[in-house]
This record gives sequence, C-alpha cells and structure tokens, in this order.
Amino acid sequence: MDQLKPYLENNKERFLNELFDLLRIPSISADVKYSADVNRAAEFVKQQLVAAGAEKVEVCPTKGYPIVYGEKIIDAKLPTVLVYGHYDVQPVDPLNLWHSPPFEPVIKDGDIYARGSADDKGQMYMHVKAFEMMLKNNVLPCNVKFMIEGEEEVGSVNLESFAVSNKEKLKSDVVLISDTSMLSNDIPSITTGLRGLAYLEVEVTGPNRDLHSGVYGGAVANPINVLCEMIASLQDKDGKVTIPGFYDDVQEVSKEERAQMAAAPFSLDEYKKHLDINEVKGESGYSTLERTSIRPTLDVNGIWGGYTGEGAKTVLPSKAYAKISMRLVPNQKSQKIMDLFEAHFKKIAPPYVKVKVSPHHGGEAAVTPTDSIAYKAAAKAMEKTFGKTPIPLRSGGSIPIVTMFEKVLGIKSVLLGFGLDSDAIHSPNEKYGLFNYYKGIETLPYFFQYFTEMSK
Ligand code: BES
Ligand code: MN
Ligand code: MN
Repeated sequence: MDQLKPYLENNKERFLNELFDLLRIPSISADVKYSADVNRAAEFVKQQLVAAGAEKVEVCPTKGYPIVYGEKIIDAKLPTVLVYGHYDVQPVDPLNLWHSPPFEPVIKDGDIYARGSADDKGQMYMHVKAFEMMLKNNVLPCNVKFMIEGEEEVGSVNLESFAVSNKEKLKSDVVLISDTSMLSNDIPSITTGLRGLAYLEVEVTGPNRDLHSGVYGGAVANPINVLCEMIASLQDKDGKVTIPGFYDDVQEVSKEERAQMAAAPFSLDEYKKHLDINEVKGESGYSTLERTSIRPTLDVNGIWGGYTGEGAKTVLPSKAYAKISMRLVPNQKSQKIMDLFEAHFKKIAPPYVKVKVSPHHGGEAAVTPTDSIAYKAAAKAMEKTFGKTPIPLRSGGSIPIVTMFEKVLGIKSVLLGFGLDSDAIHSPNEKYGLFNYYKGIETLPYFFQYFTEMSK
C-alpha cells in the first residue's frame, strides 16, 4: 500500500473538493423540511461510489431515508469488508453561534468547519477515497461492500428490517466503521465500546389552559416547577440515577480494564480548559473517562414550556415538556430502561399534575473484541501510519447498529474512527481536521491489506 502515497498527494485537492460538495448538502434527517436534501445526499454518495469504481451501486428505499449500497467483489474466496457510515447529519441550531454557515464548508487553522465534517460525512467519505485509491492502483486486496445510511442520527429505525431482508447481500467478515474519535492526533486509539441509549419525551400537564400567574399563581401547581422538581429527583447527590432497578443489569468492568483506562494519557486539566468549566461533575467513585464510557447516565436534552418569547408575559403555563436521554452500558436493555423510567416517572408525579411519557428511540450498548483479526489489523494499520500503537478505549457515544449487525448478521464491527472529542459534533462549529481526513484515507488501505493477510 505504500505505492498509494503519490496518488493521494496528486489527488488531495479533488478529494477535499468532493467532500465539500457533500458537506454543502443540508441532509438533516431529524427535520422533514430537509427531506429533499437528505435524498440528494444519498444520490451524491451513489454517484461517488460509482465514480470510485464500485459495482451494483443502488439507492435502496426504506420506509424512511434510503440506504446506499455498493460493492466490489474481486474473488469470492477472499474476505469481505462491509463499510458502514451515514450521510445524514444533526440539526444545526443554535445557528447564531456558528462562526460560518454550517453548510458552507471553510478551512480555518487546518480544520474543515461544517455540519457533518466529522460526524460522519468526512469520516465516511475517507472510505470512498481509500477504496478509489486501492482500486485505481490495482491493489485492492479483498472484497468490499458499502452500506451508507441516512437515518443514523434519528435512531436507524429502518435499518434492522433492511438487514433482515438483505442478509445475503450484506454477508461479510467484518463491519468497518469510522464514526468515532481518537484520544488525540498524537495518541491514536481504537474504540472498543459504545454506550446504548434510551430516549424519551415527557409532558407534564397542570391546569387545562394557561392562566394569569397573578390571578391563579400560588394556588395551582405550575407544571414547569413540578417538572423541574421531578427531574432533579432523578439523580442523587452522588450522581446516581434514582430510578429503581436502573443499575440492576449493569455489567461491572474488570479491574484490569479500569487500570488500563486510568493509565490512558488523559489530562483532566485540558479537558476542563477545553470546556471552560472549573470542575467536572459525575457519579462518585468513577473517573471522567469512566463516567463517559463504562457508566450509565441520565440527561435532560431539552426543556420547554410557558412563555419564552421576547419580553415578559405573566403566565402560569398549562404544560411543560422535556426530552430525556439515558446512556446505557453493556447488558442493560434499552426497552427495559424505558419501561422502568416510565413507571418511575408516573409514580413520582404529584396528584396535581398529569404526566405523559413517550419513547423516541433506543439502542443497545456494544463492546468490540480486541483479540480479533479485525482489531489487530486496525491496530497495525494505525501503527503503520501514526508510528504508535493505538490504545483500546471505550467511548460514550452510541451507534446502535453495532449490536444490531451482530444480532442479525452475526458480524462483529471494528470502530476505526479518526475524529477527536473536540470536533464539536452535534454542536455549533463542528470541525474535522485536514490531518485527520488525509490520515484516515492513508490508513484505511493498510487495514484492508493486514485484514486480508491475517485472515489467511
Ligand atoms: N458518531 C456518533 C456516535 C459517536 C460519537 C460515537 C463520538 C463515539 C464517539 C453518532 O452519529 C451519534 O451521534 N449517535 C447518536 C445515537 C443515535 C441513536 C441518535 C448519539 O450517540 O447520540
Ligand atoms: Mn455518527
Ligand atoms: Mn452523530
């Protein structure tokens, strides 16, 4: 694969311009206003796969946004790598905090600023270019299949039925995903675990209409006050979630893995500085890295109700709402946690309000093996291009398809991501380093080579 270097050098600008074209498409899957754009992004990915040399490329319809499939089978006897990524992105609000428009990519200080630059368009597109390089230089060592979806950011709800009805088409030896981050550009790491997710919305209703807060205030429960109290009670002073049964299935992590996490080169001071906070906060007895990876959590993602417009309006609102997510760890079941939440939330509701709980989406946590051929090939590939052995580390984010693919297709994943936690994914000013983009394109072919060699 060393012979690919000049090809990468000669095509650097084009590789970037193509990514910019993809980044210009506002493919926000959560907002129906953008549905034409989400579909346009799928078409773009299809065209680029065709241009790169993939065969049987198609935009496969689902009940939601389509899945782009493509493949290059060079020899049925050789291993097959299934590349997964997503072309949809998160909403951009609050828009006023962006320093440049989210869908007009710009480079500043070596970083590409745009929504989706790191999550996941930039990382997904590295695969398309790595594939092109290998194919055009006649060094593709094994079979490749691509499966690029458009509903990752909204829970991949239609992916399972697609996998179930396309088992033969998706048959492969490993799923390769670049949709995670590394410790830093000097300290590469490979993600070996992801958290699960249970996401719900709650509605608290007080009086049957908004009331004058002077005429009624003091005598009728205010649903916003009540919701705040209820939410506050969901965690105790030690940072533990108070929902009965919440921790029942939590898998404790071995002393060895905890020791390994403690040894990872992580600077709490830098972490705090990055976020502009004086102190971190979380579950007692666990480090920051542990709190964000091996422990489950509960967070309010949004809360609203009453008057939030300009100026002041004296109102005692009829309703209050919140979106609440719980990150889960291996062995916890998303559905069970949703049920526990709902039962508890209804139980703690005082008699002067009514509550409604509606589930959004969920997903199961994942752990990926470090003794597999795929992991070893990924580690060797990073070693080759970074000059350092990557550290295995669990991450706090969720990619529900990892567990789903294992269940439905019986295939394990390797999470070879090149982003950084400081890329501000899901936040204003999302970025992806040019270093990371090109390093990814350079590294991925070695994964294919080593994985093929080690599979023999
Ligand atoms: N790429 C992220 C997940 C991620 C980010 C994993 C960083 C590890 C490190 C993915 O696009 C994502 O945002 N997933 C959602 C879950 C989904 C069900 C909405 C998440 O984690 O919130
Ligand atoms: Mn992602
Ligand atoms: Mn995401």
